[in-house]
Parts: sequence; C-alpha cells; structure tokens
Amino acid sequence: MAIPPIVIATWPFGKEAVEQALPLLAKGKPALDAAIVGAQAVEDNPKVMSVGFGGIPNRIGTVSLDACVMDGKTMNCGAVAGVENIKHVASLARLVMEKTPHVLLVGEGAKWFALQNGFVLETLLTPESVAEWYKKRPKDLKMDGHDTVTVLALDQTGHLGGVCTTSGLSYKLPGRVGDSPIIGAGLYVDDEAGAAGATGTGEEIIRISGSHLIVELMRNGKSPQEACELAVKRVNQLAVRRGVHAAEVAFLALDRKGNYGAACSESSQFSFAVGQSGKIEMITAKKVSGGVG
Ligand code: GLY
Repeated sequence: MAIPPIVIATWPFGKEAVEQALPLLAKGKPALDAAIVGAQAVEDNPKVMSVGFGGIPNRIGTVSLDACVMDGKTMNCGAVAGVENIKHVASLARLVMEKTPHVLLVGEGAKWFALQNGFVLETLLTPESVAEWYKKRPKDLKMDGHDTVTVLALDQTGHLGGVCTTSGLSYKLPGRVGDSPIIGAGLYVDDEAGAAGATGTGEEIIRISGSHLIVELMRNGKSPQEACELAVKRVNQLAVRRGVHAAEVAFLALDRKGNYGAACSESSQFSFAVGQSGKIEMITAKKVSGGVG
C-alpha cells in the first residue's frame, strides 16, 4: 500500500521547494529526486539572497555555495563546498554521491567535476545582491544571513531523502564552510531512524553534529519534535559552557511515519513549509530556551 508522502522545507521560501516537490511525490517519485527538484527552485530564485543564484557574496565579493544530499534507503550521500560559478549545487552533490567513490568535493575540484559532467559556468551575482553586499558591508568580522534551504521528504515507498543547499553566511571569510555540506551537521537521513536538517549559524550546528544528534535521538525513541528541541537545548548549553551568546539555530525533522517537528533558538523567528495530502501550510517553529539536551 502506498504511504502518504510528505515534504517539509525551511523558511518561507521553503514553500517554493514544497510546491515543486509535493506533486512529484504524489506521482510516486523517490524522496531524494523530489527534494532536489524542490531545493533547485530555491537555488534558481534570485530573490532568495541566502541560497544559490543571487546569494549575498562572501567578504571578498565572491558567491561560494555549499550543498549536500542524503538518501535514507542506502545512506548514500554526497556534498560540495566552496563552489563558485555553478548554480545547481544540490544536483552536483548528488552527482558526487552517484559518480564518485567520495562524499565531499570542494572548491576548484568540485568545479572541475561539475564541468566534466555538463554543468556550465554562470555568474551567481545579481545587481540586487551586489547592491545589498555594498550597502551592508560590515567593517568588522560580523557575518549575517544563514537562511539555508533544507528539504526533507518521505516518498510513497516509505523512504526518506534530504537536501541542504546554501550560499552560507554573507560576508563569510573566503574558504569558510558552514554546516550545510557537512553530513551529520546540516543534514542526516537514515530510513531506520528518521531525517533531520538544520539552518542557522553553521559553526554552532557543526559543534554539536546537529542533524546526526537529532536522528540518533529519534532512533532512541524521541519524536521529531522532542529531538529538535533537545538539539536546540544542546546548542544553548554549549553556549553557556563556552561563555558566549547562544547562536541562532533551527532544526527540523521527519520520521518514516510522516511525523515531523521543528524548533529554534529563543532569538530566532523560524517558520517552515509542510506539504502533504495536496496541501501546503506554513508553521512557526517552537522557540526553545535553556540548556542540557
Ligand atoms: N547554515 C548555513 C551556514 O552557516 O553556512
């Protein structure tokens, strides 16, 4: 019997991803295929200035993209980081997964691999992103803008797939890589436990292996909602231990029964899109304060 498919995606622009992915899932397409098509719609949208084409550049004015994909059935995964002038990095991450014995390619190597496989060089700058970059350029090492699109899908055969794609923090140092292309940090998917993804300050998500933590919590019986809340608490706890302000992070998770959850730090305003049974709704995530987790 076919399982009712569901797809969830981060931020208001996640609605665009869900709009693309949900009909594909309804037609019986695999979770990862649908999630990548959804994520690509956001990569293509120049109005989304934190993902793909039109993303705000790094400190030296270069747009540098990160992405990863993971298939819950096989636990195959692929990722690219620090990629310039290639627009569809989620698809490129999938090619790394399918065509190489590796998981992660970076920088010039990832670009070379893209060109070998039919991708073309494109400018990722837009007049709007350049103007925004000039206008808000900070004098210190302040960075901003971490609204990654993470898409988690459950298909009709009961398999999970996920994608995470971003231009990363605007004004990041050249060479900086956040959580989004790091399997276990920005994304983790295992049919035997569930799928989880992240958005927010990548350094703090990496420090707690956020998505892997959530999937392992689900493996040990926590619901997607409970697991996401515990991951935010872990970030909060670590901030106390390190004597720093808790960073803005948000997590979302999905299990094989179609249960989902999300949570964000106290200082965040995080919403996500949920598509199921032909309908799409936006949900505001619960804010979580306090530590432990
Ligand atoms: N979460 C995206 C980044 O920190 O680059």
